[in-house]
Amino acid sequence: MDNKKNPWPVLSFFFICLSLNNHLSLGADTISANQSLSGDQTIVSKGGNFELGFFKPGNSSRSNYYRGMRYMKVSLRTIVWVANRETPVSDKSSSVLRISDGNLVLFNESQITIWSTNLCSTSSGLLEAVFLDNGNLVLRDGSDNSSKLLWQSFDKPTHTWLPGAKMAYNNRTKQNVRLISWKNSEDPAPGLFALELQQNNSSYIILWNKSVPYWNSGPWDGNIFSWVPEMRVNYIYNFSYVSNENESYFTYSLYNPSNISRFVMDISG
Ligand SMILES: *[C@@H]1O[C@H](CO)[C@@H](O)[C@H](O)[C@H]1NC(C)=O
Ligand SMILES: *[C@@H]1O[C@H](CO)[C@@H](O)[C@H](O)[C@H]1NC(C)=O
Ligand SMILES: *[C@@H]1O[C@H](CO)[C@@H](O)[C@H](O)[C@H]1NC(C)=O
Ligand SMILES: *[C@@H]1O[C@H](CO)[C@@H](O)[C@H](O)[C@H]1NC(C)=O
Ligand SMILES: *[C@@H]1O[C@H](CO)[C@@H](O)[C@H](O)[C@H]1NC(C)=O
Ligand SMILES: *[C@@H]1O[C@H](CO)[C@@H](O)[C@H](O)[C@H]1NC(C)=O
Ligand SMILES: *[C@@H]1O[C@H](CO)[C@@H](O)[C@H](O)[C@H]1NC(C)=O
Ligand SMILES: *[C@@H]1O[C@H](CO)[C@@H](O)[C@H](O)[C@H]1NC(C)=O
Ligand SMILES: *[C@@H]1O[C@H](CO)[C@@H](O)[C@H](O)[C@H]1NC(C)=O
Ligand SMILES: *[C@@H]1O[C@H](CO)[C@@H](O)[C@H](O)[C@H]1NC(C)=O
Ligand SMILES: *[C@@H]1O[C@H](CO)[C@@H](O)[C@H](O)[C@H]1NC(C)=O
Repeated sequence: MDNKKNPWPVLSFFFICLSLNNHLSLGADTISANQSLSGDQTIVSKGGNFELGFFKPGNSSRSNYYRGMRYMKVSLRTIVWVANRETPVSDKSSSVLRISDGNLVLFNESQITIWSTNLCSTSSGLLEAVFLDNGNLVLRDGSDNSSKLLWQSFDKPTHTWLPGAKMAYNNRTKQNVRLISWKNSEDPAPGLFALELQQNNSSYIILWNKSVPYWNSGPWDGNIFSWVPEMRVNYIYNFSYVSNENESYFTYSLYNPSNISRFVMDISG
């Protein structure tokens, strides 16, 4: 018996969602000095790879909203970055993301700062936040074409390492970039597992509860991490390691730019 269902109700449901989204979004990749984002408004990177908007994690029934980034071209909603990891808002329509005093700032319902790029900059220019198509949200002086970045989300990842970002140890500030797992699938607050670069050898380590070594990639041999033999040369990822007096880092690109791939510090470690 043929009991195929009519696909139209499903399709039109999606169509309505999409057009609602489009209607409410600024339809831009930039937040200028005089613009703000609230409620269901989003910005989309220029080539349409990523969207920045409010989301509710997992299947949560609680009204906890987070400002985050997701892939546009992956049908299963996949969050790659979260601004207010630990400070959800319950009323997204009165929470505002905008440029304020030289920073990109997220204000909660009471217009209290709950997340900020935290620069003590003295920049006098007109700042703008631009969402690049590799998933990097950058803050820069819009009146200055020198393209000097004041801040970038690639330096402040949450649990995901995207192609082009650096997982670095800064030898001047002695600070590590860390990927930190979510607490659980409904709470993006920092959980128990963290990945960071070893300071003195070119390997990655996963720490449990901030201090207990849990996993080690083994040193980089120029092509693969020694203790990750399943990592094959010329497979998907083009890794490179850079080390100088200022910083040490790994970065990677995809050999095939049409592939969508990422590294995630998972809840389970
Ligand atoms: C906002 O600022 C931009 C650039 O400074 C300008 O082009 C635009 O007209 C302004 N928009 C409004 C509504 O003031
Ligand atoms: C949400 O619910 C669906 C259907 O019950 C389930 O398949 C999915 O794994 C759940 N997602 C999360 C993140 O719990
Ligand atoms: C906004 O954030 C402040 C500081 O964290 C908090 O005291 C206040 O209750 C928040 N407002 C709402 C409506 O949640
Ligand atoms: C910045 O570059 C754009 C085009 O690339 C140009 O139209 C604009 O005049 C430049 N602005 C400054 C201040 O140089
Ligand atoms: C790296 O430093 C740690 C102490 O922080 C030391 O125990 C370890 O032997 C060092 N490893 C290398 C390869 O120098
Ligand atoms: C993590 O470490 C802290 C001390 O640094 C300890 O109080 C806490 O109980 C530990 N958490 C777990 C889950 O063991
Ligand atoms: C790298 O250094 C850490 C200590 O910082 C050590 O635990 C680890 O074994 C070292 N890895 C290798 C491959 O030498
Ligand atoms: C791999 O990455 C390096 C460093 O970014 C780059 O110079 C090289 O062209 C890349 N190779 C390929 C095949 O994409
Ligand atoms: C890191 O900086 C210290 C000085 O703070 C320097 O002695 C050391 O050689 C630097 N590390 C590298 C790998 O250059
Ligand atoms: C390290 O930083 C200093 C100061 O910014 C800069 O002059 C130098 O060129 C940097 N070194 C490297 C290898 O990038
Ligand atoms: C990468 O993309 C190419 C072309 O779309 C596809 O043939 C290939 O299977 C993809 N690789 C992986 C590992 O998904």
